[in-house]
Amino acid sequence: MSIFKNIDCKIKINSKNRIEGLELLEAINDSCVAVTFFDPQYRGVLDKLKYGNEGVSRGKARSSLPQMDEEKIIKFIFEINRILKPSGHLFLWVDKFHLCQGVLEWFIDTELNLVDMIVWDKGKIGMGYRTRRKSEYLIVFQKSPVKAKACWTDHAIPDVWQEKLESSEKIHTHAKPVELQKRLIAATTLENDFVLDPAAGGYSVLKACIECERNFIGGDIIYGSY
Ligand SMILES: C[S@@+](CC[C@H](N)C(=O)[O-])C[C@H]1O[C@@H](n2cnc3c(N)ncnc32)[C@H](O)[C@@H]1O
Repeated sequence: MSIFKNIDCKIKINSKNRIEGLELLEAINDSCVAVTFFDPQYRGVLDKLKYGNEGVSRGKARSSLPQMDEEKIIKFIFEINRILKPSGHLFLWVDKFHLCQGVLEWFIDTELNLVDMIVWDKGKIGMGYRTRRKSEYLIVFQKSPVKAKACWTDHAIPDVWQEKLESSEKIHTHAKPVELQKRLIAATTLENDFVLDPAAGGYSVLKACIECERNFIGGDIIYGSY
């Protein structure tokens, strides 16, 4: 079975597709993706808290990116739930605000179950009105049926992961750690499996897929080609 519903689909595998994420998701058949990374451009932080130093002057690059409200994020999650294989994984990046507020409401009426969480220690200190940011969080969901043994093959991944991005890797203001993502992909997928990132930014997941020889499907509303 093809990964796409329509055989004439213009979305390219292992490429940077400039496309609205929901459109990309809607083009994919049910239950055929092994792993999805989802790193939404959260607007909750800017809207609700005026949190840290995300204000207009310091956060110019961040606040100029297209943002996702909760309604939009829930639509992405429903589509991700549809396209993931049984026992497939969703790795959801969250900031401190969403981690503390909780995101489980977004998962009501899905088959996605919270199974783990990883702290990314960025190895460098950032900004903050009170404490200064040094970490981001990756919440791990698994589509039913939940099982670890056959579906997660690397049992040496620590739940606090230190990875400092080199300046050459900081091609996007929200770039995520390639080595961590590679390790997770290798632990949860097999050769020829598909890994999806519907809001790919600087395409760190594409880089991880190339390095561990997995198929990538992904895009971004402003980065990539048509
Ligand atoms: C947090 S960044 C992703 C960073 C990425 N994980 C990386 O490692 O570079 C979120 C991205 O979502 C994109 N975005 C916002 N709304 C979108 C939408 N509706 N569809 C697809 N991409 C969207 C933004 O352009 C931004 O590049």
